[in-house]
Amino acid sequence: MNNFVFYNHTKILFGKGQISAISDELTDDSKILLLYGGGSIKRNGIYDQVTEALNGFEYYEFGGIEPNPSYEKCMKAVDLVNDNGIDFILAVGGGSVIDAAKFIAAAAVYDGEDPWDILAHNEPVEDALPLGTVLTLPATGTEMNGNAVITRAEFKEKLSFTSALVLPLFSVLDPEVIASLPKIQIANGITDAFIHVIEQYLTYPVNAKLQDRMAESILLTLIEEGPKVLQNSADYDAGANFMWCTTMALNGIIKSGVPEDWSTHQIGHELTALHGIDHAQTLAIVLPGVMKVMKESKKDKIVQYAKRIWQIENTDTNVTIEQAIAKTIAFFESLGIKTKLSDYKIPITTIEEIVERMEERGSVNIGENKLIGIDEIRKILKSRF
Ligand code: NZQ
Ligand code: ZN
Repeated sequence: MNNFVFYNHTKILFGKGQISAISDELTDDSKILLLYGGGSIKRNGIYDQVTEALNGFEYYEFGGIEPNPSYEKCMKAVDLVNDNGIDFILAVGGGSVIDAAKFIAAAAVYDGEDPWDILAHNEPVEDALPLGTVLTLPATGTEMNGNAVITRAEFKEKLSFTSALVLPLFSVLDPEVIASLPKIQIANGITDAFIHVIEQYLTYPVNAKLQDRMAESILLTLIEEGPKVLQNSADYDAGANFMWCTTMALNGIIKSGVPEDWSTHQIGHELTALHGIDHAQTLAIVLPGVMKVMKESKKDKIVQYAKRIWQIENTDTNVTIEQAIAKTIAFFESLGIKTKLSDYKIPITTIEEIVERMEERGSVNIGENKLIGIDEIRKILKSRF
């Protein structure tokens, strides 16, 4: 097992009715920014629950955060924060709203010239406003991690940053929010969480038995419970299991002491930046290509994955790997997620465009062994056309 440091201070308030408990987490003299997305919370009753909990607190509202939140919109919220001396951000939404809250929290107190530098030039986050969240879409794990992904529309760039300073102080996980989700968002959530686990698992063995088995248990639970939620989004018990899986998939626990390979996400972000494809769908396109092209360096773990997740036992390693890839694709497709570039009408010219952008930005030699260079990225994408 590799050395590791694990730190996570997010308090989780899990279960029915927990939205009302946010009032206990806020300080009386806080000036709060209630941040939300395109309005789903006004239609499903979450907004009413949150504003009831905020009764008596001084709060301002900022709505309209888009899926794949934009720098431009976030900077408008930064102005509102600074004009009114806001000192706490309450994000109510999915990954996009929560990521936006993290960026706003850091940007509002940023000392340098342009907070975009945090994303584009890895400028360190030295300070950030505190934030809390009410998660409305189980998928990204952002409610219990320090990551955020922001898009700059004018440059067609989708970039991420990580800082413990933007770990939420608390996050409410009430599985009842799942009932109003469109099927495609549930399928996206299952797929995103599944691939988060894969990217912290499908590398090479380091004898981290607990981390491996925790990762496998999340995958198996998603395979078991995900389709039930898709079938009936009001199934509270299945929803609760799904929701906790998505948080556990990316809160730092399963990555502790093991190698990671975030190449599927890195390549996937390019597809969203250029063609607006939903985040999880880009991952379902790219992952099978990563497994195929990088099968030599990943083979021990792919064989373990094949056996423990899909009960594939074959004496021929190549056949085992092929079957594991086929099972993975079939799982995403069974959720209604298409897995080929051509399914999304992406022109073949996009492949070279992505290769060039990643090369220019220096986003190459990625993966657990830094073996995914330009040629591999090209092959991965070509294998998914
Ligand atoms: O904007 P509203 O009206 O709220 O509608 C949203 C949005 O249209 C809707 N929705 C959310 N909760 C709902 C609901 N509709 C009905 N009922 C509810 N309860 O769902 C749509 C998608 O929301 P969004 O927040 O964009 O989805 P998701 O949670 O999948 O977040 C995706 C974003 O997170 C980033 C992605 O790159 C993408 O930008 N990620 C963040 C990560 C992190 N911070 O750790 C890791 C992930 O890998 C990912 O990259
Ligand atoms: Zn993701």
